[in-house]
Amino acid sequence: MSKIIFVLSGPNLNLLGTREPEIYGYATLKDVEDQCRAKAAGLGFEIDFRQSNHEGVLIDWIQEARLKACAVVLNPAGYGHTSVAILDSLKTLAIPIVECHLSNPAAREEFRRSTYVSLAATGIVSGFGAKSYELAIEAAAALVAKSGL
Ligand code: DQA
Repeated sequence: MSKIIFVLSGPNLNLLGTREPEIYGYATLKDVEDQCRAKAAGLGFEIDFRQSNHEGVLIDWIQEARLKACAVVLNPAGYGHTSVAILDSLKTLAIPIVECHLSNPAAREEFRRSTYVSLAATGIVSGFGAKSYELAIEAAAALVAKSGL
């Protein structure tokens, strides 16, 4: 049984720490990765942490997760609000999917208030800054343990 949680981040999240820090915080993506790795290790899991600005690349990774991962944590960033193709790829997974956002999109502009990803997600963590990723990993680990995967 895989103990690898795929932690995938979408467009512009490579700029974390400098991109609208008043919304997304000052932690860099590397800081987030380090926090995720420590959290997962404490729970007995490994993470495969990746970021891409490209929709098709994210879809390739989601398909790869079918074969290699026990769960997926996904911050789809802007693609969450637009991508039917990412939704379709998530629907091929039989493992837990935790949607994750640094901000709380439901409290922001109208166009951010829903995501396609939510239609396939097991659950959503949003609004806790970099901590959202750690909470999402905790949720994913609990879902994996519960499912006995
Ligand atoms: C985000 C929220 C999205 O609305 C936005 O497009 C992002 C980041 C977040 O983590 O809060 O790029 O997913």
